[in-house]
Amino acid sequence: MKIAFIGTGYVGLVSGVMMSSMGHDVVCLDIDNTKISNLKQNILPIYEPGLDGYLKESVAKNKIKFTTEYSKALSNAEVIFVTVGTPSLSSGDADLSYVFKVVDNITKFASNCLIVIKSTVPPGTCNKLNENLPKNLNLKIASNPEFLREGYAVQDFLNPDRIVIGTIDEESANLLKEVYKLFIKRGVSIVSTNLITAELIKYTSNSFLAAKIAFINEIADLSEKVGANIDQLIEGIGLDSRIGQKFLTPGPGFGGSCFPKDINALSKFAKSQKSDFFLLDAVINSNYKRPYNLSNKIIKLFNGNIDNKKITVLGLTFKAGTDDIRNSPAIEIIKILKNSGAIITAFDPKAKDAIELLPDIKYSGTLEQSYLGADALIIATEWPQFQDLDFDKLYEELSTKIIIDLRNILPSKQLIKKGFKYYSIGTRLEQASSL
Ligand code: UGA
Repeated sequence: MKIAFIGTGYVGLVSGVMMSSMGHDVVCLDIDNTKISNLKQNILPIYEPGLDGYLKESVAKNKIKFTTEYSKALSNAEVIFVTVGTPSLSSGDADLSYVFKVVDNITKFASNCLIVIKSTVPPGTCNKLNENLPKNLNLKIASNPEFLREGYAVQDFLNPDRIVIGTIDEESANLLKEVYKLFIKRGVSIVSTNLITAELIKYTSNSFLAAKIAFINEIADLSEKVGANIDQLIEGIGLDSRIGQKFLTPGPGFGGSCFPKDINALSKFAKSQKSDFFLLDAVINSNYKRPYNLSNKIIKLFNGNIDNKKITVLGLTFKAGTDDIRNSPAIEIIKILKNSGAIITAFDPKAKDAIELLPDIKYSGTLEQSYLGADALIIATEWPQFQDLDFDKLYEELSTKIIIDLRNILPSKQLIKKGFKYYSIGTRLEQASSL
């Protein structure tokens, strides 16, 4: 099938490349000239494991093209995916201006095709877009939300739990089913529904997962206070198949470009509909406070005074496996510690652009040099290489031998035996030297 993607951000690029690898003829459009000329030379603007290989393969097979011109992207397209950003406005609402602008542009260059909104948009947006379409062009709107995780996007694309399609009629649904034919053959569940339900499914999924994380983070705090073991607690609840083990890892709070934005937008949307959503507001509040609460605990470790303490922070991205630092709790914690007087050195294997957000900290080029002469080491992102730290060297180098593991990834027993003061999340001091 001939498919166009408008917007080569994270979702557009991953979906475009992967759909071309499924055999579709894909054209990706972006208004950013540099991005497009880089993509034409196989240079990806994001770090996503495995994606470069699929891109090279599709380029070699002539299955994917990149352009800045609507006329080129849309000529002959049967299905046009809209994959532009819907960032948060300062009010918390989603900024839909890019989506509306793109759909308006499409009406100038395309007819007789299906416009599929993949961008995350508040319920009701697709109906509005559909009503606004010129009646003479035989264009229709559909919704096909995305569930890819950064860092695992290729894997998630290839093995979806389900595919959600929201349409206004059967013809549109059948066209979208044709796009996903290979998955349907493999038995992947398709949830076919109306536009508003598809839009709400996306917000509900992200909000529910965010709630799970906020819930376990607060249970971790309680466990710490009462001496319960958080790992065993998670095993104890997660083995209940109604709860499940996933998304129950406590940490410094959820970040990234999706959860914080989407839960705020859903909360605003519920309010606009005068529908109570007390639970979601509690999740927003809980996650907002998390970096402050953890930073206060860290400062307490230094008897309330962190002035001139040299702190090394390992990990700047909002999670491992990505170069994305948007809404990263690591960045928030660094800002708070720095404002309290600490001297910060940071190391991250992938983070780009951190220097713009945090210009006055030191960045170490290597993991080994990052902690030389530090008073404490904080693990803020769960990069697997942090588990391979040379603990003997670390013990020699740290002046106060304090490790604060905000991701619970280090071998607690081994570190405590070595003489470190090891603080993790959700386990009490006498058990594992907990925060
Ligand atoms: C999330 C969803 O998982 C995807 O399904 C969705 O497509 C995407 O948003 C989106 O809307 O585009 P992503 O933002 O890439 O994906 O990241 P996640 O892996 O979901 O992690 C989000 C945050 O939660 C991270 O800060 C992570 O560290 C944190 N997290 C996750 C925890 O603190 N504990 C967990 O158990 C899991």
